[in-house]
Amino acid sequence: MSKQVIRNFSAGPAILPPVVFERASEAIRELRKDGHAREADGTGLSILEISHRSADYEAINSGATRLCHEVLGIPETHQVLFLQGGASLQFVTVPMNLRQEGKPACYVDTGNWSEKAIIESRQLGETRVIASSEASKHDHIPELPSPEAYAGASYVHITSNNTVRGTEYAELPALAGDVPLVIDCSSHIGSRPMALSRVGLGYAGAQKNLGPSGVTLVFVRKDLLERAPAGVVPKYLRYATHAKKPSLYNTPNTFGVLVLKLMLEWLRDQGGVAAMGVINQRKAKLLYDVLEDSSLYTPHARPGSRSLMNVTWTLGGVAEGERDAMTKRLVAAAADAGLRNLKGHRTVGGLRASIYNAFPEQGVRELCEFLREFERTA
Ligand SMILES: Cc1ncc(COP(=O)(O)O)c(C=O)c1O
Repeated sequence: MSKQVIRNFSAGPAILPPVVFERASEAIRELRKDGHAREADGTGLSILEISHRSADYEAINSGATRLCHEVLGIPETHQVLFLQGGASLQFVTVPMNLRQEGKPACYVDTGNWSEKAIIESRQLGETRVIASSEASKHDHIPELPSPEAYAGASYVHITSNNTVRGTEYAELPALAGDVPLVIDCSSHIGSRPMALSRVGLGYAGAQKNLGPSGVTLVFVRKDLLERAPAGVVPKYLRYATHAKKPSLYNTPNTFGVLVLKLMLEWLRDQGGVAAMGVINQRKAKLLYDVLEDSSLYTPHARPGSRSLMNVTWTLGGVAEGERDAMTKRLVAAAADAGLRNLKGHRTVGGLRASIYNAFPEQGVRELCEFLREFERTA
């Protein structure tokens, strides 16, 4: 009997391309020289046992940094850092580093992750929510208010893709004046071209489009590195500390950074973010079209705010009393058919298909077919 193909719609940690799984496994057995360069000789050692101060790791660290500029389009004006503590630690370190005396930190509330960032910021000082989609269950990206609302702010923070609710900024906002834009781009970095020159600081947990959990990509405009008041913010939590010895102040997640490098090489080989953006548009459209054409399914996000990475929907076409049971039935039937992890986030329910860069178009087609058939027989 042939083995069932499993399609993993997990929101993260998420699917990686087969070639990255292969090369990462190979590096665990034996790392190649020059930061695991394709044709290089073996080092005789595993990636898991080499020093982060070795020349071989240095090649991985600097190679991954270079690819962040070249493939993701992070401007040369920005320092790239590979940190730990997840995107969640950035909820704390962003205000610690960027907040300025007497200048509020401004946030756009687009759901779970921005709410967590807002809670941390409030612990540290004046925090203003300048736009919110809460009143409509975060089903869209709210308009930014006029510049007076954030003039003189320390920064404006947005969650540029909302993994839980399935909304995404179609374009990053261009802020007026010299207020830095901060983006939590954890769940869509690398998915399409983005105007990153508009960003003062960006951060992303790697475990969606960039590799395994345990590495956080941070990119910060160099003039913002020293904003944290010396002697107030602990040394480890200052971006400047990690920039001085780029991502080598303490022992980094060496394996995670290697996988991130392999992911960026794979992305480059696919044609980079421009080509990936076209593929991702196509993949997401397949699914949204099925949801739109249906009288059973209701997409959660409004047109114009829909995420290409996290597609969310409910069974809006059945009575409320039956909805949860039928949703459970759908998730179970899909899992039996090899379509795994379609359950919505535990805090909001419903259904969610995360279709990050590595998720194959064929898998999206299979889900579309399954959903049509489920509706036909429901
Ligand atoms: C947009 C966004 N921000 C933050 C987080 C939290 O990331 P971490 O678990 O790496 O702290 C997630 C996790 O899924 C996320 O999707």
